Amino acid sequence: MPLISLEALRSKRALGWLSWHLRRRRRYRPAVLEALLADLARTAPDQLAISGDLTQISLEHEFRDAASWLARLGPPGRVSAIPGNHDAYVPVPRERGWQHWNPYLASDPGESDDFPSVRVRGEIALVGVCTAQPTRPFLATGRVGRDQLARLDAALERLAAAGLCRVVLIHHPPVAGLTSRRRSLLDADAFGEVVRRRGAELVLHGHLHRTTLVSLPGPERPIPVAGVPSASHAGPDPARCAAYHLYEIERARDGFAIRRRVRAWDPALGRFAARGSDESIGVVS
Ligand SMILES: [Fe+2]
Repeated sequence: MPLISLEALRSKRALGWLSWHLRRRRRYRPAVLEALLADLARTAPDQLAISGDLTQISLEHEFRDAASWLARLGPPGRVSAIPGNHDAYVPVPRERGWQHWNPYLASDPGESDDFPSVRVRGEIALVGVCTAQPTRPFLATGRVGRDQLARLDAALERLAAAGLCRVVLIHHPPVAGLTSRRRSLLDADAFGEVVRRRGAELVLHGHLHRTTLVSLPGPERPIPVAGVPSASHAGPDPARCAAYHLYEIERARDGFAIRRRVRAWDPALGRFAARGSDESIGVVS
């Protein structure tokens, strides 16, 4: 158990630190992350999108460790990330927090420094929305905020005009009813209005620690909204076990055809393996 200063243990961090060491640490295992890296070497996706919560209580050594882990996943040109609520557990100066991941968070050159990030990779535009903000103890809410929503609106319109497949990455599920209010996205309705007006081809989120698939209304058709479990959870509930999702995206006559495969931690095998069969989650002919 690492030594933590009394200053760092104040308030919410103290509760989070206890929760981690008394309960959650047994479920989130480094060995599962190693197995994940091995499986990713086998499946070799072109791009990796990380939906946040790379730290537990936003300590600087956690940010440094996560930066090392990101580097093992791949170079910033292939790996994109956004922060989650645990990465803003308490207010932390940027240079002692997310700055450690900047190459993986930052937009392409020529884009704005503010979130949402915009990273174009081939025909895919990854749009990274930040919902992470410090909250009071026992809350895990997120918020996009009015200014970021305005920038998201403009980015989605511009990327659609460029004919790109817009994949929005956001930590909190932007759909009401998927989680309790104390863990919810507080301005999910406003986010929903932006994507209903501008559209998106796919929305990816984390936070719930389970595989989900719902949709939001879009301007022409429903927009798939897919949730991914934790990458390291090895607890007893198979529905919450570590997993990642592989998406195959192909241009089609009327947009983009999207298929999803689930790769999940299998405790009996001691590795990741396919769970279920491929699903078609984007429309299209
Ligand atoms: Fe979260």
